[in-house]
Amino acid sequence: MKRCIVVTGASRGIGRAVAVHLAKAEGAHLVLLGRKAADLEEGAGLVRAAGGTAEFSAGDVRDRTWLQTLARDLDQVDALVAAAGISGITPVDKDCDDRFESILGTNVTGAWNAVRAFAPRMKEGGHIALVSSVLGHFGVPAYGAYCASKAALLGLTRALALELVDRGIFVNAVAPGWVDTDMAVTGIRDLARALGVDEAEARRRAERAVPAKRFFRPEEIAHGVAWLLHPSNTMMVGKCLTLDGGSVQT
Ligand SMILES: NC(=O)c1ccc[n+]([C@@H]2O[C@H](COP(=O)([O-])OP(=O)(O)OC[C@H]3O[C@@H](n4cnc5c(N)ncnc54)[C@H](OP(=O)(O)O)[C@@H]3O)[C@@H](O)[C@H]2O)c1
Repeated sequence: MKRCIVVTGASRGIGRAVAVHLAKAEGAHLVLLGRKAADLEEGAGLVRAAGGTAEFSAGDVRDRTWLQTLARDLDQVDALVAAAGISGITPVDKDCDDRFESILGTNVTGAWNAVRAFAPRMKEGGHIALVSSVLGHFGVPAYGAYCASKAALLGLTRALALELVDRGIFVNAVAPGWVDTDMAVTGIRDLARALGVDEAEARRRAERAVPAKRFFRPEEIAHGVAWLLHPSNTMMVGKCLTLDGGSVQT
Protein backbone atom coordinates (compact mmCIF):
# COMPACT_ATOMS: atom_id res chain seq x y z
CA MET A 1 0.00 0.00 0.00
CA LYS A 2 1.13 3.54 -0.79
CA ARG A 3 2.68 5.21 2.26
CA CYS A 4 1.51 8.64 3.35
CA ILE A 5 4.52 10.75 4.33
CA VAL A 6 4.24 14.22 5.88
CA VAL A 7 7.14 16.63 5.26
CA THR A 8 7.43 20.00 6.98
CA GLY A 9 9.63 22.59 5.28
CA ALA A 10 8.65 21.00 1.97
CA SER A 11 8.28 24.22 -0.02
CA ARG A 12 11.97 24.33 -0.94
CA GLY A 13 15.45 23.07 -0.09
CA ILE A 14 15.97 19.80 1.73
CA GLY A 15 12.29 19.21 2.55
CA ARG A 16 11.25 19.52 -1.09
CA ALA A 17 14.10 17.23 -2.20
CA VAL A 18 13.02 14.63 0.36
CA ALA A 19 9.44 14.75 -0.91
CA VAL A 20 10.47 14.36 -4.56
CA HIS A 21 12.92 11.57 -3.71
CA LEU A 22 10.24 9.58 -1.85
CA ALA A 23 7.83 10.04 -4.73
CA LYS A 24 10.43 8.69 -7.14
CA ALA A 25 11.62 5.88 -4.87
CA GLU A 26 8.27 4.44 -3.82
CA GLY A 27 5.42 6.43 -5.38
CA ALA A 28 4.44 7.66 -1.95
CA HIS A 29 1.64 10.09 -1.11
CA LEU A 30 3.34 13.25 0.11
CA VAL A 31 1.77 15.86 2.36
CA LEU A 32 3.83 18.98 1.80
CA LEU A 33 3.81 21.61 4.54
CA GLY A 34 5.44 25.04 4.59
CA ARG A 35 4.47 28.69 4.72
CA LYS A 36 4.36 29.67 1.05
CA ALA A 37 1.44 28.15 -0.86
CA ALA A 38 2.84 28.92 -4.34
CA ASP A 39 6.11 27.12 -3.58
CA LEU A 40 4.24 24.18 -2.07
CA GLU A 41 2.06 23.92 -5.16
CA GLU A 42 5.16 23.87 -7.35
CA GLY A 43 6.66 21.16 -5.09
CA ALA A 44 3.47 19.11 -5.31
CA GLY A 45 3.76 19.26 -9.11
CA LEU A 46 7.32 17.94 -8.91
CA VAL A 47 6.19 15.11 -6.62
CA ARG A 48 3.48 14.10 -9.10
CA ALA A 49 5.94 14.27 -12.00
CA ALA A 50 8.26 11.98 -10.01
CA GLY A 51 5.55 9.31 -9.68
CA GLY A 52 3.96 10.14 -6.35
CA THR A 53 0.72 11.79 -5.31
CA ALA A 54 0.61 15.00 -3.33
CA GLU A 55 -1.40 17.42 -1.30
CA PHE A 56 -0.16 20.53 0.43
CA SER A 57 -1.14 23.00 3.10
CA ALA A 58 0.38 26.36 3.97
CA GLY A 59 0.93 27.32 7.58
CA ASP A 60 3.43 27.92 10.33
CA VAL A 61 4.79 24.96 12.29
CA ARG A 62 4.38 27.05 15.43
CA ASP A 63 0.62 26.79 14.88
CA ARG A 64 -0.45 23.64 16.73
CA THR A 65 -4.11 23.92 15.77
CA TRP A 66 -3.26 23.94 12.05
CA LEU A 67 -1.10 20.80 12.40
CA GLN A 68 -3.61 18.95 14.55
CA THR A 69 -6.48 19.70 12.21
CA LEU A 70 -4.42 18.46 9.27
CA ALA A 71 -3.48 15.28 11.13
CA ARG A 72 -7.12 14.55 11.93
CA ASP A 73 -8.12 14.98 8.28
CA LEU A 74 -5.60 12.49 6.86
CA ASP A 75 -6.71 8.90 6.24
CA GLN A 76 -3.37 7.51 7.40
CA VAL A 77 0.10 8.71 8.40
CA ASP A 78 3.07 6.40 7.91
CA ALA A 79 6.03 8.74 8.27
CA LEU A 80 6.99 12.29 9.20
CA VAL A 81 10.01 14.37 8.23
CA ALA A 82 10.40 17.54 10.29
CA ALA A 83 12.59 19.69 8.05
CA ALA A 84 11.11 23.16 8.62
CA GLY A 85 13.79 25.40 10.04
CA ILE A 86 15.33 28.83 10.09
CA SER A 87 18.82 30.05 10.86
CA GLY A 88 20.47 33.38 11.54
CA ILE A 89 23.07 34.90 13.82
CA THR A 90 22.29 35.73 17.44
CA PRO A 91 25.44 37.41 18.84
CA VAL A 92 25.19 37.55 22.60
CA ASP A 93 26.10 41.26 22.72
CA LYS A 94 23.44 42.29 20.19
CA ASP A 95 19.71 42.87 20.61
CA CYS A 96 18.49 39.60 19.07
CA ASP A 97 16.16 38.16 21.69
CA ASP A 98 13.24 38.01 19.27
CA ARG A 99 15.32 36.12 16.72
CA PHE A 100 16.49 33.73 19.45
CA GLU A 101 12.87 32.95 20.38
CA SER A 102 11.90 32.63 16.74
CA ILE A 103 14.69 30.15 15.92
CA LEU A 104 13.96 28.01 18.99
CA GLY A 105 10.21 28.26 18.39
CA THR A 106 10.43 27.21 14.75
CA ASN A 107 13.20 24.63 14.92
CA VAL A 108 12.44 22.92 18.22
CA THR A 109 8.83 23.66 19.19
CA GLY A 110 7.83 23.43 15.51
CA ALA A 111 9.28 19.92 15.24
CA TRP A 112 7.65 18.98 18.55
CA ASN A 113 4.31 20.30 17.32
CA ALA A 114 4.59 18.18 14.18
CA VAL A 115 5.43 15.04 16.15
CA ARG A 116 2.60 15.76 18.61
CA ALA A 117 0.15 16.09 15.75
CA PHE A 118 1.20 13.22 13.47
CA ALA A 119 2.77 10.53 15.72
CA PRO A 120 -0.57 9.65 17.38
CA ARG A 121 -1.91 8.84 13.90
CA MET A 122 0.90 6.36 13.15
CA LYS A 123 0.56 2.62 13.42
CA GLU A 124 3.29 0.06 14.07
CA GLY A 125 6.03 0.50 11.45
CA GLY A 126 5.82 4.32 11.47
CA HIS A 127 8.97 6.37 11.00
CA ILE A 128 9.97 9.88 12.06
CA ALA A 129 13.08 11.82 10.98
CA LEU A 130 13.95 15.15 12.59
CA VAL A 131 16.32 17.35 10.61
CA SER A 132 19.09 18.54 12.90
CA SER A 133 22.51 19.79 11.71
CA VAL A 134 26.21 19.33 12.30
CA LEU A 135 25.75 22.47 14.40
CA GLY A 136 23.85 20.21 16.78
CA HIS A 137 27.21 18.50 17.38
CA PHE A 138 29.51 21.52 17.67
CA GLY A 139 29.31 25.25 18.27
CA VAL A 140 29.88 28.17 15.93
CA PRO A 141 30.40 31.71 17.29
CA ALA A 142 27.28 33.90 17.07
CA TYR A 143 25.03 30.94 16.23
CA GLY A 144 23.85 30.30 19.80
CA ALA A 145 20.16 29.96 18.99
CA TYR A 146 20.68 27.79 15.92
CA CYS A 147 23.24 25.51 17.62
CA ALA A 148 21.01 25.21 20.69
CA SER A 149 18.01 24.36 18.54
CA LYS A 150 19.81 21.67 16.56
CA ALA A 151 21.35 20.09 19.70
CA ALA A 152 17.88 20.17 21.27
CA LEU A 153 16.52 18.19 18.32
CA LEU A 154 19.07 15.45 19.00
CA GLY A 155 17.89 15.25 22.62
CA LEU A 156 14.29 15.25 21.47
CA THR A 157 15.07 12.45 19.00
CA ARG A 158 16.62 10.27 21.70
CA ALA A 159 13.77 10.70 24.16
CA LEU A 160 10.98 10.31 21.59
CA ALA A 161 12.69 7.26 20.12
CA LEU A 162 12.57 5.43 23.44
CA GLU A 163 9.03 6.61 24.08
CA LEU A 164 7.67 5.49 20.71
CA VAL A 165 9.67 2.33 19.97
CA ASP A 166 7.26 0.33 22.14
CA ARG A 167 4.55 1.24 19.63
CA GLY A 168 6.82 0.15 16.75
CA ILE A 169 7.53 3.73 15.66
CA PHE A 170 11.15 4.52 14.82
CA VAL A 171 12.49 8.01 15.51
CA ASN A 172 15.89 9.19 14.27
CA ALA A 173 17.61 12.40 13.21
CA VAL A 174 19.70 13.49 10.27
CA ALA A 175 22.46 16.06 10.71
CA PRO A 176 23.58 17.59 7.42
CA GLY A 177 26.67 19.72 6.94
CA TRP A 178 26.57 22.55 4.38
CA VAL A 179 23.79 21.91 1.86
CA ASP A 180 23.24 24.13 -1.20
CA THR A 181 19.90 25.76 -0.34
CA ASP A 182 18.68 29.27 0.41
CA MET A 183 19.76 28.75 4.00
CA ALA A 184 23.37 28.16 2.92
CA VAL A 185 23.31 31.29 0.74
CA THR A 186 22.35 33.35 3.80
CA GLY A 187 24.92 31.53 5.92
CA ILE A 188 27.70 32.34 3.46
CA ARG A 189 26.56 35.98 3.31
CA ASP A 190 26.81 36.20 7.11
CA LEU A 191 30.17 34.42 7.09
CA ALA A 192 31.54 36.81 4.47
CA ARG A 193 30.48 39.76 6.60
CA ALA A 194 32.04 38.25 9.73
CA LEU A 195 35.35 37.49 7.96
CA GLY A 196 35.43 40.75 5.99
CA VAL A 197 35.76 38.91 2.66
CA ASP A 198 33.50 38.61 -0.37
CA GLU A 199 30.95 35.78 -0.62
CA ALA A 200 32.99 33.75 -3.13
CA GLU A 201 35.96 33.74 -0.75
CA ALA A 202 33.73 32.89 2.22
CA ARG A 203 32.34 29.95 0.25
CA ARG A 204 35.86 28.76 -0.65
CA ARG A 205 36.90 28.88 3.00
CA ALA A 206 33.74 27.06 4.12
CA GLU A 207 34.35 24.33 1.53
CA ARG A 208 37.99 24.00 2.53
CA ALA A 209 36.90 23.44 6.14
CA VAL A 210 34.90 20.35 5.12
CA PRO A 211 37.12 17.23 4.89
CA ALA A 212 35.27 16.25 1.67
CA LYS A 213 35.95 19.81 0.40
CA ARG A 214 32.46 20.52 -0.86
CA PHE A 215 28.88 21.45 -0.03
CA PHE A 216 26.17 18.84 -0.56
CA ARG A 217 23.04 18.74 -2.71
CA PRO A 218 19.60 18.53 -1.08
CA GLU A 219 19.06 15.30 -3.06
CA GLU A 220 22.03 13.70 -1.28
CA ILE A 221 20.45 14.44 2.09
CA ALA A 222 17.14 13.09 0.77
CA HIS A 223 18.82 9.71 0.17
CA GLY A 224 19.82 9.55 3.83
CA VAL A 225 16.38 10.58 5.04
CA ALA A 226 14.75 8.00 2.78
CA TRP A 227 16.97 5.33 4.29
CA LEU A 228 15.95 6.37 7.81
CA LEU A 229 12.28 6.14 6.78
CA HIS A 230 12.59 2.86 4.90
CA PRO A 231 10.18 0.18 6.18
CA SER A 232 13.15 -2.17 6.60
CA ASN A 233 14.84 0.25 8.99
CA THR A 234 13.74 -1.12 12.32
CA MET A 235 17.25 -1.11 13.81
CA MET A 236 18.09 2.54 14.29
CA VAL A 237 16.43 3.97 17.38
CA GLY A 238 17.21 7.51 18.51
CA LYS A 239 20.33 7.82 16.38
CA CYS A 240 21.67 10.63 14.27
CA LEU A 241 22.75 10.07 10.69
CA THR A 242 25.42 12.72 10.13
CA LEU A 243 25.82 13.58 6.44
CA ASP A 244 28.57 16.16 6.42
CA GLY A 245 31.60 14.99 4.45
CA GLY A 246 33.62 14.17 7.54
CA SER A 247 33.39 17.24 9.77
CA VAL A 248 32.03 15.11 12.61
CA GLN A 249 33.06 11.48 13.01
CA THR A 250 30.70 10.12 15.65
N1 LIG B 1 21.19 24.15 4.17
C1 LIG B 1 22.04 23.72 5.08
O1 LIG B 1 23.27 23.93 4.94
C2 LIG B 1 21.55 22.94 6.28
C3 LIG B 1 22.51 22.26 7.03
C4 LIG B 1 22.08 21.53 8.14
C5 LIG B 1 20.75 21.49 8.48
N2 LIG B 1 19.84 22.17 7.73
C6 LIG B 1 18.44 22.08 8.16
O2 LIG B 1 17.66 21.53 7.12
C7 LIG B 1 16.32 22.01 7.23
C8 LIG B 1 15.89 22.55 5.87
O3 LIG B 1 16.73 23.65 5.56
P1 LIG B 1 17.01 24.12 4.07
O4 LIG B 1 18.48 24.22 3.92
O5 LIG B 1 16.22 23.33 3.13
O6 LIG B 1 16.47 25.62 4.21
P2 LIG B 1 15.53 26.50 3.28
O7 LIG B 1 15.81 26.26 1.86
O8 LIG B 1 15.65 27.86 3.86
O9 LIG B 1 14.06 25.91 3.58
C9 LIG B 1 13.49 26.04 4.84
C10 LIG B 1 12.11 25.41 4.81
O10 LIG B 1 11.53 25.53 6.12
C11 LIG B 1 10.25 26.14 5.99
N3 LIG B 1 9.95 26.94 7.18
C12 LIG B 1 10.73 27.83 7.80
N4 LIG B 1 10.09 28.36 8.85
C13 LIG B 1 8.86 27.79 8.89
C14 LIG B 1 7.74 27.89 9.72
N5 LIG B 1 7.74 28.74 10.78
N6 LIG B 1 6.65 27.15 9.47
C15 LIG B 1 6.62 26.32 8.42
N7 LIG B 1 7.65 26.14 7.58
C16 LIG B 1 8.76 26.88 7.81
C17 LIG B 1 10.36 27.01 4.75
O11 LIG B 1 9.07 27.26 4.30
P3 LIG B 1 8.67 28.61 3.47
O12 LIG B 1 9.72 28.79 2.42
O13 LIG B 1 7.36 28.24 2.86
O14 LIG B 1 8.66 29.69 4.45
C18 LIG B 1 11.17 26.10 3.84
O15 LIG B 1 10.34 25.13 3.25
C19 LIG B 1 16.32 23.07 8.32
O16 LIG B 1 15.83 22.51 9.51
C20 LIG B 1 17.80 23.42 8.46
O17 LIG B 1 18.10 23.89 9.74
C21 LIG B 1 20.20 22.88 6.63
